[in-house]
Amino acid sequence: MKLTKYLAVLLILLPCNLVAVQQHWKSLINDGVHDPTSPAIGILQEPSQAFSLLPADTAGNKVSWVRALREQYIQPRTNIFPETKINVLDMDIIMDRTGEMPMVRFPHKAHTEWLDCENCHDDIFIEIADANPVNMFAILAGEYCGRCHGAVAFPLTECNRCHSVDRNTFTGQPGAQPEKDLTDMLN
Ligand code: HEC
Ligand code: HEC
Ligand code: HEC
Repeated sequence: MKLTKYLAVLLILLPCNLVAVQQHWKSLINDGVHDPTSPAIGILQEPSQAFSLLPADTAGNKVSWVRALREQYIQPRTNIFPETKINVLDMDIIMDRTGEMPMVRFPHKAHTEWLDCENCHDDIFIEIADANPVNMFAILAGEYCGRCHGAVAFPLTECNRCHSVDRNTFTGQPGAQPEKDLTDMLN
């Protein structure tokens, strides 16, 4: 392709890309949350400006927060009080009461990198695999995983992110999987 032609194509594509990026996030003025007449508009950082720099995702607020944390795009403070103990646990729970759907893999690691054990145990989940009557109806009604997913974590329309384990190829036992050692990661 001749250079001039190439540049012309590029110029046509470029604005489309910019529009596509901006459409990911509503401006603070029309997000339905902020008061458009507030003096804070214009001072607060626009989501498109803040979020476009983070690893992209296709759902929710279009940021992969798990990657943003692991790849150190963000380094949130882990504790307010120095005596708070940080516990990251690398243990998956495979949940198999999923009917025709693939089984659910619940990763403790991706959760305990953000959350304390007490955020879930024992108010939302008893600390015993398969001891909680979790089902999709309750989740959609905002219980169990639905306390966070669809509210502050990726939305419930992303079925395959939870239902990620094909029961035909899974060779282990459902329930708690052997805990992986995290000492290497923490050092
Ligand atoms: C985001 C919620 C959440 C957080 C935070 C969380 N857990 Fe869990 N935990 C679960 C779920 C879900 C199960 C499985 C429950 C089920 O299968 O009914 C579980 C199960 C367990 C089990 C049972 C394993 C077995 O062998 O039966 C243990 C032990 C456990 N968690 C320990 C912890 C510890 C320690 C922490 C903090 C480091 C923690 N959990 C943080 C949600 C959480
Ligand atoms: C945030 C995680 C999550 C998402 C997202 C999710 N599920 Fe589930 N789903 C579960 C869990 C956990 C169970 C219960 C598994 C267990 O107890 O063994 C479940 C159970 C089910 C079941 C079994 C029957 C029932 O009513 O419990 C079906 C069917 C199901 N889900 C379909 C879906 C479909 C379709 C979607 C997408 C529209 C979806 N799920 C999205 C976590 C999720
Ligand atoms: C207390 C809040 C909370 C509860 C309860 C909760 N989650 Fe999450 N979950 C999060 C947060 C926060 C993240 C990280 C942000 C994101 O991915 O949106 C996350 C991420 C995930 C991920 C993505 C991991 C990755 O590597 O990208 C999966 C899968 C998941 N959750 C499944 C579940 C399932 C299944 C349940 C119920 C058995 C559940 N979660 C219950 C808060 C929660």
